[in-house]
Amino acid sequence: MPGANESARVWDPAQRILHWGLVVAVALAWWAGEERLSLHIAVGYVVISIVAARTAWGLFGSRYARFSDFVRGPRAVFDYARQIVRRREQRYLGHNPLGGWMIVALLLCLAVVCTSGFLYTTDYFWGMGWLEQTHRISAWTLVVLIGLHLAGVIFTSLRHRENLVRAMFSGHKPVADLRDTAE
Ligand code: HEM
Ligand code: HEM
Repeated sequence: MPGANESARVWDPAQRILHWGLVVAVALAWWAGEERLSLHIAVGYVVISIVAARTAWGLFGSRYARFSDFVRGPRAVFDYARQIVRRREQRYLGHNPLGGWMIVALLLCLAVVCTSGFLYTTDYFWGMGWLEQTHRISAWTLVVLIGLHLAGVIFTSLRHRENLVRAMFSGHKPVADLRDTAE
């Protein structure tokens, strides 16, 4: 049985570097926008690369990085949501069922943002209104998802009295009370 102060290595270095790299690159892409288009496109390529790398890592990476570890079926997601309402949800070392789908949603949305942005830079698609709209709408959808992502991180950190942001830097999470539910 693990001791009260024992911690486990959960997030591997690649996950952590890719996560914080993604945060910086997405923030820069927003800041650059249309006014600094060459910077926007350059960091956009960084975003594409990180999304591709994280997706590959989801298939071949370490235990908690894999999609198979955190993408769960509708019943598990529904049960988890119901447990939250009853304040009895279990604590997960990896991503919880709702957080897992949020990650899939973030990666998919980023893929749409980047693909539409990239296509818009090609001669064939340049100037096509629907593509510009797709890029704009998906970029704003991304903002909403990021807001929900942050709300989820704050909520879960408060509920289980642990600092999930710090864990995304250190890679470590306490193992004590793993199956515990919030009172
Ligand atoms: C996370 C990544 C990205 C975000 C958040 C983002 C966001 C945005 C936003 C908000 C705009 C202004 C849209 C408007 O109001 O019309 C824009 C414009 C643009 N973006 Fe991105 N973008 C991203 C990645 C990319 C990538 C990867 C490319 C290309 C390789 C790209 C190419 C463009 C182009 C060409 C425009 C100008 C469109 C126009 O002339 O109206 N973007 N982007
Ligand atoms: C551009 C904005 C952001 C995007 C696109 C994003 C995306 C993601 C992704 C894809 C993951 C999964 C990481 C993995 O499994 O490798 C994740 C997890 C996480 N993110 Fe973000 N993130 C963003 C901003 C932030 C910010 C600003 C914070 C904190 C201040 C944050 C805190 C976390 C934490 C704590 C986790 C782990 C959640 C858990 O414990 O299950 N994220 N994020």
